[in-house]
Amino acid sequence: MIASAKRIEQVEEYYFSKKLAEVRSLDSVNFPIINLGIGSPDMPPAPAVIAALTKAAENASNHGYQNYKGAPVLRQAIAAFHERMYGVTLNAETEILPLMGSKEGIMHVSMAFVNEGDEILIPNPGYPTYSSVSKLVGAKLVSYDLDEANDWRIDIGTLRQRDLSKVKLMWLNYPHMPTGTRAMREDIIELVALAKEKNFLLINDNPYSLILNDEPFSILSMPGAEEVVLELNSISKSHNMAGWRIGWVAGKQTYIDAVLRVKSNMDSGMFLPLQLAAAEALRLGDDWFKQLNATYAKRKVLAEQILKQLGCAFSSNQSGLFVWAKVPNTVHGVEAFVDKILYEAKVFITPGFIFGSNGERFIRISLCATEEKLKEALTRIQLFQQDKSVEKVLTAVI
Ligand SMILES: Cc1ncc(COP(=O)(O)O)c(C=O)c1O
Repeated sequence: MIASAKRIEQVEEYYFSKKLAEVRSLDSVNFPIINLGIGSPDMPPAPAVIAALTKAAENASNHGYQNYKGAPVLRQAIAAFHERMYGVTLNAETEILPLMGSKEGIMHVSMAFVNEGDEILIPNPGYPTYSSVSKLVGAKLVSYDLDEANDWRIDIGTLRQRDLSKVKLMWLNYPHMPTGTRAMREDIIELVALAKEKNFLLINDNPYSLILNDEPFSILSMPGAEEVVLELNSISKSHNMAGWRIGWVAGKQTYIDAVLRVKSNMDSGMFLPLQLAAAEALRLGDDWFKQLNATYAKRKVLAEQILKQLGCAFSSNQSGLFVWAKVPNTVHGVEAFVDKILYEAKVFITPGFIFGSNGERFIRISLCATEEKLKEALTRIQLFQQDKSVEKVLTAVI
């Protein structure tokens, strides 16, 4: 028996990697589970993007190893996207590094900057990858609270009072997943100042900036941010391309060079047709985002109806691909509550505890399901609440 490395003793298999296997095991052809768990867009990319991919794949010379820094055409498209969406000017040659999604970027950045024992500030609640990657690189996790009572904003005063001398980096994620909160500019300005004062790297993970958000924001637009800031972004959510694994990190050249040192030793570049098609996606105009957000806005109304039916409380002012909601006091264990809905109503909803202890009384519904499916989920939940056998009633109707 060969022992696995110590570093993995502290992490478990990713929640969704395990839970979705359980969800699949409950699925049946006649009565599939409605999955409102994960934020994987169900709509396709734009036709022009698919056309660019197939055209580039037909070119015999496009199949070799690629430049480690990404195709120049993709870096230029990313730079133009930053200028157009966020008003941030970046040097396409030196300040942008394409990555295979922003999730991978969390590992790349951590490998590039964190030494064993360094402290990493992560949000509670927050995307679980920040903590698992921090553990994998041997860092000490220090969470900062986001509280409902404070509208999920960072309490910067309290943060300041802590000993931050060993902090090497701080993860931010605005628009925030799972709470749907948008960045408050005055908070970000203060955090940039704090990062400078205490000498740590501030990294915003920004994949939701264009979903149900009227004010797309980049932390790189903050005055003086350059010295202490990096930003991760991707086209997974904004362009319905989550499975393509295309994202990037942007910031000051010396930081990008450090990430490249890690990345160029880990992979051998992305398939060129994917990069060319991603560049096409980044050039899509406002119409793309209008129709995308119109669809998500309609779905959000239905997701909110499901949450009301469950007696949950929520803010209607959330950005991103989810609705985050507090379960009623009558619910004792949220995991059991969600499992009951899964096993009896055949609807999968994410329990908030997976995002940290401050998410324990919450659940999260994804908008990555059609209106038809969301309506059916509502019907299933209503039947389940009436103690009816959901599958029997609905298959009998059909
Ligand atoms: C906050 C956050 N960051 C990063 C990611 C990963 O996205 P990508 O597909 O760009 O790796 C997700 C995906 O769910 C996310 O919610």
